[in-house]
Amino acid sequence: MIKIPIAIIGAGGMGGRHLRALGALYESGMANVELVGVCDKNEGNANHLADNAKELLGKRPAVFNSLENMKKEMPEIEAVDITTDSGSHHQVAEEAFNLGYNVLCEKPLAITIKGSNKVIEAWKKSGKVLSVAEQERRDPICRLTKALLEADVIGNPYSFLNGSARGSKDIIILPWRHHKNMGGIFVDAGVHIVDQMMYYLGDIEEVYAVSKLWEKKRYKGEKIGVSNFYEKWASSVPNEIEADSEDMVISTLKFKNGAIGQWTSFYAAHGEITEYAMIYGSKGSMTPAKQRRGDPLRLNLDGIGEISGDQVLELVPNFHLDELTSRLFKSERLGSYKTPFEDVDKFLVALEYYELGQCITDGTKPEVDAYVGRKDLAVCNAALESSVLGRTVTIEEIENEITSEYESSINDYWKI
Ligand SMILES: NC(=O)c1ccc[n+]([C@@H]2O[C@H](COP(=O)([O-])OP(=O)(O)OC[C@H]3O[C@@H](n4cnc5c(N)ncnc54)[C@H](O)[C@@H]3O)[C@@H](O)[C@H]2O)c1
Repeated sequence: MIKIPIAIIGAGGMGGRHLRALGALYESGMANVELVGVCDKNEGNANHLADNAKELLGKRPAVFNSLENMKKEMPEIEAVDITTDSGSHHQVAEEAFNLGYNVLCEKPLAITIKGSNKVIEAWKKSGKVLSVAEQERRDPICRLTKALLEADVIGNPYSFLNGSARGSKDIIILPWRHHKNMGGIFVDAGVHIVDQMMYYLGDIEEVYAVSKLWEKKRYKGEKIGVSNFYEKWASSVPNEIEADSEDMVISTLKFKNGAIGQWTSFYAAHGEITEYAMIYGSKGSMTPAKQRRGDPLRLNLDGIGEISGDQVLELVPNFHLDELTSRLFKSERLGSYKTPFEDVDKFLVALEYYELGQCITDGTKPEVDAYVGRKDLAVCNAALESSVLGRTVTIEEIENEITSEYESSINDYWKI
């Protein structure tokens, strides 16, 4: 199999997780990309990732501190995987397209719609591939959820209820997630939730929301980040920071298909943590599984009652996972799994890499392309915009930059 030479740009926590994903892809026997470069403006981080790559993949990628130098010294690199912090995505992605790279860009595509539109413009001019790294829908149980909805098992969708409350006054992962100009926690996590909601029920067209910043000071908590992925940076997290991005957004969503959604994103909740998702239709309800956990999803159907786990598979006899997912999860039909979180985390990103390689080789379109990535962000930004304007905001208005009160200060900060 031809292996496309690629580089990881951004060697922080997520850069490390992407490296682990490459390890999984190499092990699967289906690797169609090869890591040959690492680029980070922080040389220490770049070298750390390159050392880990040598250990994991058997070969140390070359290290660079700018895309320009990398292009000069290794013109053979065909694609870059952008895992820099979110505020920089629009700059890094635009430069990458101008230098002629194919791009896999971590979510969000950019932190403003104006930034996303600039990336889209550069991408269109380049004729290269742009894939947004939104991995959660690739979870086998999310694929099953989608298949069940397509098979109409709960009937006509009426409502999507989604909420989470956690966070207290701890710094969530790293300080930048509490700064509006860097892409606050609501957008950072929100694009994942929006992507799941629209993957299941189709596009959202209108949002009404109220947002708030409760915890203006955040403190270093006992644990930094997800799993042990951020351990290297734990000592550099300050004990206290000033936060200026929203930590509560409560939204009412109108889907194009007529369904109504309620979405609560609350990152300053003290006390008990809560997390829920429910889809209600004309024939029953579905509790979609939490991605990367492997728990069975639950159906409750009129006249039948509860069905869950492998029983659910009987409702979708033609449901099959793709070849790489089947290899990684060791089954082509799954109603649940017991794979550890850290392994699932790398498998889902491995699927993104493989898809990128395929798109470059045979011209297929990525599943989460520029427009899906922009719409995921647009729903988050519509909620923030709605809170500023005190009215319902349409996604069309946001994507076409007809109203941009909320993001205008971010655009000014980055000179977009
Ligand atoms: N898909 C997911 O589940 C998931 C999970 C975590 C993070 N992410 C995304 O991954 C991205 C990175 O997050 P993180 O937690 O790893 O951040 P991080 O702060 O740990 O790492 C960012 C790295 O990028 C480098 N960097 C910043 N600007 C740069 C530039 N212009 N050129 C080169 N290097 C640059 C920094 O020096 C740092 O090493 C974010 O966009 C975040 O939203 C996605």
